[in-house]
Amino acid sequence: MTQQFAINLHSPDFKADPYPVFARVRSDDPVHLTEFPGNRQGWMITRYEEAEKVLRDPRFIKDQRHVLTPEQLQQLQQHYPVSDAPKQEQAFAFSNNMLGSDPPDHTRLRSLVSLSFTPRLIEQWRERIQAITNELLDAVQEKGKMDIVNDLAFPLPLMVITEMLGIPPEDSGKFRAWSNSVIEASGNPEAFQKRRGEVIEFREYLRFLINEKRKQLADDLMSLLIRNEEDGDKLSEGELIAMVFLLLVAGHETTVNLISNGALALMTHPEQMQALREHPELLKSAIEEFLRFHGPLMTATQRWAAEDVELAGKLIRKNDYVVIILASANHDPAAFHNPDDLDITRSSNPHLAFGKGIHYCLGAPLARLEGQVAIGTLLQRMPQLQLAVDAKELVWRPGALIMGLRSLPVTF
Ligand code: HEM
Repeated sequence: MTQQFAINLHSPDFKADPYPVFARVRSDDPVHLTEFPGNRQGWMITRYEEAEKVLRDPRFIKDQRHVLTPEQLQQLQQHYPVSDAPKQEQAFAFSNNMLGSDPPDHTRLRSLVSLSFTPRLIEQWRERIQAITNELLDAVQEKGKMDIVNDLAFPLPLMVITEMLGIPPEDSGKFRAWSNSVIEASGNPEAFQKRRGEVIEFREYLRFLINEKRKQLADDLMSLLIRNEEDGDKLSEGELIAMVFLLLVAGHETTVNLISNGALALMTHPEQMQALREHPELLKSAIEEFLRFHGPLMTATQRWAAEDVELAGKLIRKNDYVVIILASANHDPAAFHNPDDLDITRSSNPHLAFGKGIHYCLGAPLARLEGQVAIGTLLQRMPQLQLAVDAKELVWRPGALIMGLRSLPVTF
């Protein structure tokens, strides 16, 4: 019989402290069959060992078109009809990017942009990231208080990724509501249905941006992608839109949570904040610990079994839906010593916050750099940094994918 646990991955309340529940699932039923929103049955993978295996295993695939039956595809179509594109494209309006693909498409799509995200090239953005951080903090310094989410953690990565793509800065405000809608509805067909209008607007806006850019190509990522699309068979127009969408959304909806969850972790562990102030050389390992301790994503993105696979004594059947709980794997005592303690000096920290295998986060070097600059500068410039409300009053955003705060009011 399937065991039941009080898990609602989508609920904001659950996110404040999901770890005791995950600990029970890991020990009682680590590969756990459950009901996800939209009456979808699927497997939750909660231990580090299996999470890492599934992330690396090519038998777990990402392109729904390779696994779903015609009936399942049709059902999905009804849930996600986001454009007036031909029917079979509708459900995939945003997912025909590298994160929703398997080789060889995945290899082709990733190779188009992978050279732009190497640690060496990303390092060249350090000065610019520092300048934006300084500007954002200048705007609040005199007030003695700020909302870390809205004043720093959200605008910084958004400004950086729009600049990298070559999107006019005045347009970036528009993305917030659209991108939030897509993220908060992720994995939840009913929520997605309600926000359908915004999703269509977002897609149409991206199409408009790309057409504007076509008139005057420049030295930015969007121009690089357009050149590839115009070059012939490397990238279709639909893939181009889905790629810009992925880079834009992945480029800021995650890092916002690294910065704000990291700042929250320090404020709720003052001795760790003090240690980091005294030893700024620990900043790199502190960022890794924030990624592990209360990381930006609660789950990896969805996968399906391409064939029957046995995992921890359970038979996962071909076409079964699988969700890897990164937040649980990153608190597995079999992989981490005292996993529920925040320890910025942790020397072995092979967390899965950026995934593993072929879909390992393309933007990891950028996210790490933004995290280091934002948290480092915050500590330097705000010596009295502390929460302005009780931690219990903080509100988490809905949706199964992300683990992020709506706002984080502080004084300094
Ligand atoms: C702290 C911030 C970030 C975290 C925690 C994060 C996490 C992840 C994870 C877990 C995956 C793999 C998902 C899976 O396998 O299901 C992923 C993939 C990806 N991320 Fe990030 N990400 C972050 C920032 C960024 C940034 C700044 C970018 C910039 C563009 C980015 C772009 C991507 C892309 C393009 C993929 C797909 C890679 C592929 O399919 O080959 N991410 N990210």
